[in-house]
Amino acid sequence: MSSTTSSMFRYKAKRMASSTILHHTPSPNCPIPYFSFPQFKSPAKPKQSPSTVKCRQNLHTSSLPTETLDDESGERRLILNRRRTFICVSTLPFMLRADESVEGFGAKAAESVTNIHMLIAGAVRKVVSKGKAAGVLRLVFHDAGTFDMDENLGGMNGSIIYELDRPENAGLKKSFKILDKVKSEVDAMQSVSWADMIAVAGAEAVSVCGGPTITVPLGRLDSEVPDSEGNLPEESLDASALKQCFKRKGLSTQELVALSGAHTLGSKGFGNPTVFDNEYYKILLQKPWTSSAGMSNMIGLPSDHALVEDDECLGWVQKYADDQNLFFEDFKKAYIKLVNSGARWRSL
Ligand code: HEM
Repeated sequence: MSSTTSSMFRYKAKRMASSTILHHTPSPNCPIPYFSFPQFKSPAKPKQSPSTVKCRQNLHTSSLPTETLDDESGERRLILNRRRTFICVSTLPFMLRADESVEGFGAKAAESVTNIHMLIAGAVRKVVSKGKAAGVLRLVFHDAGTFDMDENLGGMNGSIIYELDRPENAGLKKSFKILDKVKSEVDAMQSVSWADMIAVAGAEAVSVCGGPTITVPLGRLDSEVPDSEGNLPEESLDASALKQCFKRKGLSTQELVALSGAHTLGSKGFGNPTVFDNEYYKILLQKPWTSSAGMSNMIGLPSDHALVEDDECLGWVQKYADDQNLFFEDFKKAYIKLVNSGARWRSL
């Protein structure tokens, strides 16, 4: 469990608890806070006889001057006061532990998220072999990459399952079918959204191929309709257009370069197709596509080549080529940002 995930849940649990404790109406004889639940609607009050109403009023009116009470009502008041004190004292330990149990509730929620994460990751691991990893990781970008920050549209919402016939998604049906099987298996134990399923599966695909371990937060909601078309970058874009496109998704130039490192997997010629490493950057610096030797001019997409033609991108390409650990760290952060982009979250 990442600290982000657990602190997110602790924060939500605390927020829920603080909205739960609406009133603090201490009775004059009792220091205990009064809890009221905002979602709870009290049943209609039964009609009460005037005497009952009076008795209930007395219960909260300890400042009533005693001289106005006759002997009988004075005695009744004494009994009521004793009863009230008894209730206060006997419930005090539970009330004092309320905040502690809110913390406990947050910890339990975090623990249950860890378990769900492990459940999905375990099921994915059984079927996503190194050979299938590239397609699964690509599925992530094609779901999340539709995000447009200005329009607040698209993003990581599972809508890719309705968009598989689009030309830009050609070849992704295979990966979808693999995850569909895994999802049915997981759903039988714990219902999960497509968005969460794809986010975790992509992270597992990276790790299966030797990349960093990525723990993504869970709780995304699925869209029930496809996202609008035309928000994924085309492979023919130059660096300036790629930067603009990623900026609209809330992603920086550095994140564009780090995420493009995903192309180290697959058949575009960046080293071993099933090993997640920094070969992508090392090979980009050699510009093999400018050579006429053999198949080297087939290496990479125009959008990959564009990264070494732009000074800002080139700086990051060099850094990641020199330092695989830095690439892994930055990829991890950018991946989490990608799979959170545009996501709507289930509340606790
Ligand atoms: C920067 C803009 C990007 C463009 C223009 C782009 C475009 C493409 C294209 C055209 C392919 C080849 C598909 C084929 O083999 O038919 C591809 C492959 C792939 N893309 Fe991207 N992509 C981009 C960014 C990303 C990102 C951010 C990720 C994931 C984080 C990603 C993951 C992959 C993977 C893993 C493959 C290999 C799939 C395979 O061989 O099965 N791509 N991409």
